[in-house]
Amino acid sequence: MPELDPLYTAENLDALRRHYDAWADRYDADTRELGRMLPAVVAGFAGKHGPHGMNGPVLDVGCGTGVMGTVLTAIGYGPVDGLDLSPGMLAVAERKAVYRQLVEAALGPDALPMQARSYAMVLAAGVFTPGHAGPEALDELIRLTRSGGVIVFSASLPVLDDAFHARIQRLCDGDAWRLIAASAPFAAMLGSVEAPEARVFAYRVA
Ligand SMILES: C[S@@+](CC[C@H](N)C(=O)[O-])C[C@H]1O[C@@H](n2cnc3c(N)ncnc32)[C@H](O)[C@@H]1O
Repeated sequence: MPELDPLYTAENLDALRRHYDAWADRYDADTRELGRMLPAVVAGFAGKHGPHGMNGPVLDVGCGTGVMGTVLTAIGYGPVDGLDLSPGMLAVAERKAVYRQLVEAALGPDALPMQARSYAMVLAAGVFTPGHAGPEALDELIRLTRSGGVIVFSASLPVLDDAFHARIQRLCDGDAWRLIAASAPFAAMLGSVEAPEARVFAYRVA
């Protein structure tokens, strides 16, 4: 089982990529042992608050080894595209054969290599957490989502600071999106006291 600390304190995306590449082959077994809850809660939110009646592709941002893709495909969502900065994690996801396409790219600061308004739903489980993606990345998730589409993301409590809330509020004030629902804080990993609590949010894009 790896130490989780180096993930949360990675000084840049290259360092984070190296950590995930090194963890990729053991990630599924280790996170199962850690009782990781985020994919289940994000999928539940997608089902409860997703764009009913709007068919279309789903983007799984920070798809990792494809846990979300597996859940979404089992439920009947599709096609599902995945995006991640770690080629090691993507290689494991590829073996699950649940994604239409997998793209190696980093969320922030540059635009992702997808067309604007391509997706009916954009999901990000475990990406807004220390050392990973910051609130400036929310703009890019909005750019990729169709009008009327839904974004569901988790955010760990340490990143939900004033700057994060200010970014969310600015996007609401600018009518880029509006809040549908926010979860209560919950244990992101039932088997780890080290892992911070998280919340899950659903927003509808204007
Ligand atoms: C905690 S894992 C979650 C993986 C998957 N979403 C799940 O729930 O099992 C975080 C994933 O996000 C990826 N990631 C972190 N920051 C990223 C960024 N800025 N851009 C793209 N991928 C990122 C990591 O490589 C890793 O695969």
